[in-house]
Amino acid sequence: MTGRPTTFPLELSRAEMKRLVDAAMERIFEHIDSLPDQPAADLEGATALARSVAEPEPPESGVPFEQLLDLIFDRLAEKSFNTIGPGFVAYIPGGGLFHAAVADLIADSINRYITVFAAAPGLVQLEINVINWLKRMVGFPADAGGFLTSGGSLANFSALATARREKLPENFLDGVLYVSDQIHHSIDKAAALAGFPARAVRQIGVDERFRIRIDELEQAIATDLERGLRPFLIVGSAGTTNTGAVDDLPELSRVAREHSLWLHVDGAYGGFFALTERGRTALRGLSEADSVTLDPHKGLFLPYGTGGLLVRDGEALKRAHQLRGEYMLPPEESPDLVDFCDISPELSRDFRGLRVWLPIKMHGLAAFREALDEKLDLAHWATDELRQIPGIEIVAEPQLSLLAFRLAPDGYDPERLDELNRELMDRINARQRVFLTGTRLDLGFVLRICILSFRTHRDRMEMGLEDIRAAVGELR
Ligand SMILES: Cc1ncc(COP(=O)(O)O)c(C=O)c1O
Repeated sequence: MTGRPTTFPLELSRAEMKRLVDAAMERIFEHIDSLPDQPAADLEGATALARSVAEPEPPESGVPFEQLLDLIFDRLAEKSFNTIGPGFVAYIPGGGLFHAAVADLIADSINRYITVFAAAPGLVQLEINVINWLKRMVGFPADAGGFLTSGGSLANFSALATARREKLPENFLDGVLYVSDQIHHSIDKAAALAGFPARAVRQIGVDERFRIRIDELEQAIATDLERGLRPFLIVGSAGTTNTGAVDDLPELSRVAREHSLWLHVDGAYGGFFALTERGRTALRGLSEADSVTLDPHKGLFLPYGTGGLLVRDGEALKRAHQLRGEYMLPPEESPDLVDFCDISPELSRDFRGLRVWLPIKMHGLAAFREALDEKLDLAHWATDELRQIPGIEIVAEPQLSLLAFRLAPDGYDPERLDELNRELMDRINARQRVFLTGTRLDLGFVLRICILSFRTHRDRMEMGLEDIRAAVGELR
C-alpha cells in the first residue's frame, strides 16, 4: 500500500512524503553547496524581518510547502549567524553534522519511545552504547552512569542536583560551591534553579592562564568551614568559554578528596579533545572527577540539542533523579538495561542517541579525533600568525582550540582600548569571511577565536588572518 485517502490530510502518502523530503533536500543541498560563499554572519535588517513574520493568529488552513521552504531558506536563514559555515569561530561552534539530520529524520519518523528500556530495547541499547563510549573516553568505570541532554546547561544542572543530593542534607541552604571567576554562567543558573541563594556560589580568582587558583580555593574552603558553612561541590572547567582555560584537574581532585567534596568538570567545550593525544595531556585528571559535562553539539560537531552528563557513581545519578508514577512500566532490575527517565530530569524526549550513534558508527572515532587534532593545529597556527602582527597582544594562548587576543598599542587608556578592540572586531566581522566574538576579562575587552567547526580548515583561517591584518592596518 503506497497511498492513503486524502480525507486524512495529516497522514501523508508515500508520494507526498517523498515530495516533501526531495524538495527540502534540494534546498539543503543548495544551502550547503553555497556555504563557502555565504557571509559568516549577516544580521542587517534581521529584526525587522523577524517582526514581518510575526503571526499572532495560527493559520486555519494550509500553505504550499514550497512557499514555506522559500520563506525559511530565501528569507529567514540568511539573516543570521552562519553557524554551519567554515567562518564561524565565534562563541563555541560545532557545525552540525549532516548525518545527525538524517538520524533525526529516521528517529522522528519511527518516533519510538526510548525513555524506558522496555519500550524499544534494541534502540535504547544504541543510546546506551553511546554513553558507554563517552564513559570510556573520559576514563570512567563501567558502572558509571550518564545520559544525553539537550545541552551543557542542563547537564550542569543535573550534575549540581546530583552533587547536592549526595553531599548535603535536605535543608541545603548553607551549602557552598566553588567555581573560578571564569566559569560558564550555566553553573550559576543551575545553582539558582536548584534553590541555592546567590551567596552559595563562591567565585575564586584565576592565575595568569585563567585557571582557578588552588591556594585561593583552599583558603575559601577553610574560611567557610570555620564559619560553619557546608562546602559540597567544586566545579572545574575543561575549557572555559572566555579563553579556553583548562583548570588543574588533578589538583582540584586532590582538594575535593581532602574535603570530601563532589568534583564536577564542565567539559562542554573542551571535553571531546580527550579523544586526541594532546587533548588528553591538557585534560589530565578528567577521569578523577565525580561528574563531567560533555557537549556533542560542540566537540562532536553535532547540531544543537545534544549535550551529555556522565557521573562516576551511576547509583548517585539514579538517587537524584528517580521518581515514578503508577502508570509506568516497572523499572529495569539489571544495571545494563537503562531506563533513561530514572537517571535524568526528562520523561518523554527525542531519540537523541541516534544522532550521536550514526556518525560515530559510520566513520569511527578516528575521523573525529583527526578533525579535533586539526582544530588544535589551526589554533596554534592562528596564534603564531597573530603574534606577528605589530600591536597584537596574545591574551590567552590556546590550551585547546580557543585563543584570545587584543590590539594593545601604547598610550591608550583602558576605555579607549576597549573601544579600539570593539572597532577592530566590527571591522573584521564586516568582511563577513569569519565571524568572531569578544568577551570581557579583568584587563578589558578582548577578541576570541574558537576553532571547532568541522568545516573550518586552513584556507578559511588564512582568510580570517588576512582580514584581521587588514582591519588592524586600518586602525593604525
Ligand atoms: C564551558 C561551557 N559550559 C556550558 C555551556 C552551556 O552549554 P549549552 O549552550 O549547550 O547549554 C557552554 C556553552 O557554550 C560552555 O561553553
